[in-house]
Order: sequence, then C-alpha cells, then structure tokens
Amino acid sequence: MGQNTKNMHYGKITGWGKYVPEKVMSNEDFAAFIDTSDEWIVQRTGIRRRHVAAETDQCSTMATEAGKRALSLAGLAPTDLDLIIVATSSPDYLTPPVSSQVQAQLGAHNVGAFTMSVACPGFVYALITAHQFIAAGSMRNILVIGVELITRMLDWEDRNTAVLFGDGAGAVVLQASDEVCGVRSFVMGSDGEGYQHIIHPSGGTACPPTTETLANREGYIKMNGREVFKFASRKMPEAVAAAVHKAGMTLDDLDLLIPHQANARIIEAAAHMAKLPSEKVFMNVHEYGNTSAASIPIAFCEAIEAGRIHRGDKLCMVAFGAGLTWASAVVQMGSDVAGLPERS
Ligand code: COA
Repeated sequence: MGQNTKNMHYGKITGWGKYVPEKVMSNEDFAAFIDTSDEWIVQRTGIRRRHVAAETDQCSTMATEAGKRALSLAGLAPTDLDLIIVATSSPDYLTPPVSSQVQAQLGAHNVGAFTMSVACPGFVYALITAHQFIAAGSMRNILVIGVELITRMLDWEDRNTAVLFGDGAGAVVLQASDEVCGVRSFVMGSDGEGYQHIIHPSGGTACPPTTETLANREGYIKMNGREVFKFASRKMPEAVAAAVHKAGMTLDDLDLLIPHQANARIIEAAAHMAKLPSEKVFMNVHEYGNTSAASIPIAFCEAIEAGRIHRGDKLCMVAFGAGLTWASAVVQMGSDVAGLPERS
C-alpha cells in the first residue's frame, strides 16, 4: 500500500500498452462459412477485420502482456503497484478472478487485484475506480487493464454476432500526482431492464450448462442488435455531454473523443449529435471489431501512436454495453508525460 502524500490526489496516466493477437480474420474469411459479405459488414458496421486469439493466448496472458508494456513505459516495477484492476467479461475461469492470474504472471508479488465485470464499459468503470483510490490519498500506483477473449464465447454459425467482435487487451498506469490531470469527471449508468439485449444465457448460475443448453447453443453470446443500436446511439452523446458538463467544460474544450469501438455508424451518430468534427473523434473499429472492455484502452494506445494525443490534452472516453450499461469520463493528460508530444 502506498503512503499518503499531501495533494497527490490526481491520477496521472504515465504508461500505456496494448496487446492484440497476431491472427487476423477478414470479412471475406467469414463469407467462406456463413451467409454474409464484406459489403454488408462494412456498410452496417465499418468493420473490415478483427484480431482473433491463438490457442496459446488466454485472457490472462493478453492482459499481462498489455500490463507489462504499460508498466515499462511508466518506469515502474510490478511490485511498485498498489493495485491491479482488470475489466473483462471473458476471464480464463469464472473462479478464480483473472486479476489474480495477471498479478502472478506480472510478478506483482502480493499486490491487491480484482476483476470488474461491466461488459464493454468495464475499462471506463475501472479507470474511474482507480481514480477514486488515488483521489482518496490511499494509493499511488494502479494498473488498469481492459481485456477480452470474446471470440471463444461466440457462436461462429450466428452471423448476427460472429462478425462483430475481436480479441485484445489494453492497459494504463495511473500514478498519484499533484498536477490537475487524470479523471476530471465521470458518468456511470446502468439500466438492467435491458439485460436480455446482450446475454450469454448459459454458463452462470441461472442456467448452468447441460446437454440441452449446449444443443440450443445457449453457451454463446446472443444479441438484439437493433435494440442495442438504438440505445447506444442515444446514450453515447448524452454521456459525453454529461461528463463534459460535470468537468465544467464545453464540447469545444475536448481535444479528442475516444468512443467504444462497436460500430462506425454508432460512433458517427454520436459524434454528430455531440457536434464533434471527425478530426476530434478516434476510430479504429475497422481494424479490430468490437473488443468490448479492451476497445477503449486499445484505441487510446493507437491514438497516441498516431500522434493524436498531446501533453495536457482533454479527452472524453465513452462506452456502452451489456447490462445495459454505459460510462464516460473526461480525462486530462499530464503536462510532462514522457512519450507524449507537445501540442503545437
Ligand atoms: N451478414 C449479412 N446479413 C446479416 C448479418 C451479417 N453478418 N447479420 C445480420 N444480418 C441480417 C439479419 O439476419 C437481418 O436479416 P432479416 O431482416 O432478413 O432478418 C438483417 O441483416 C438485420 O437487419 P438490421 O437489424 O436492420 O441491421 P442493422 O443495420 O441494425 O445492423 C447490426 C445490424 C448488428 C450491425 C447493428 O444493429 C448493430 O451494430 N447493433 C449494435 C450492436 C453492438 O454494438 N453490440 C455490442 C454492444 S457492446
């Protein structure tokens, strides 16, 4: 546990890293075994390809790899950490929590770790949670990871879901700082009335797996795409506006929106409603598909790699997903973060 340090109440992002499996599946690869086409997928979703885990990849190993990269950039040893938070809906096992496997694989001896299951907004929920520990003055160094090996939960014969998702992991390190930065405001929401719109019916305690559930293909994710589309297109701009307002900012103050990468049409609709020009919106859904809890940290890393995030920039991260759930956070980058350019 880190020591209390006066005024070190801001969680500065000092490290980041991503891991995506090498194997790539194109839309044409799907058209070879289900009734779909590259044209349909691109037009309806913007997705062109996605990365798919190899047999040797696990949720824990992908998370660990992203975590190692983030720690290395932050210049921290795993044992410097006070806490590891892993957001995922596709852990190695239902029990034990995958966060403990990640803690062990990192060599973060005895460091506290927990797993959060909040579907696609999981990383934003985890980031907000980490921010709370630092703002309270009780912790200094926290590793936040969003990871998903969701392709092993898909029905590869169901064209409604199979083409939409991909695997990967992304991580950030938050370090206590006295500079005003990190999570400046946030919104967390859920509406459990919509729980059936994205559901993995069998595998939990409500419907343990049996030969019958297997035969009915209930061990795979099911989705009511239209309902989710309507919900997401409405909720994303609302959540952005609310977080920006809570931060005492206006939309003009934002340098970059990093939305959950589920569907290019949803992102474009949200950006349009929020009146944000396309140069202020990051999009990489064409390359990865929907990587659920990993989508925002992977997009964050890629935005940095593309030179689109600078020192002092104000970002808004926003996500929606199963639950139904949503979350947004206005995040300000530190003014002295190594690895980030100055805004010219
Ligand atoms: N290839 C070809 N046709 C497909 C298809 C595919 N991969 N997937 C679905 N279809 C068909 C359906 O069978 C249906 O056919 P029908 O009308 O004969 O029954 C039709 O396309 C669906 O039409 P519609 O629902 O109007 O499509 P859409 O424009 O809403 O696009 C989604 C479907 C799933 C791409 C879209 O609704 C979506 O992205 N929803 C949000 C999903 C999401 O973000 N989920 C993750 C949340 S974290």
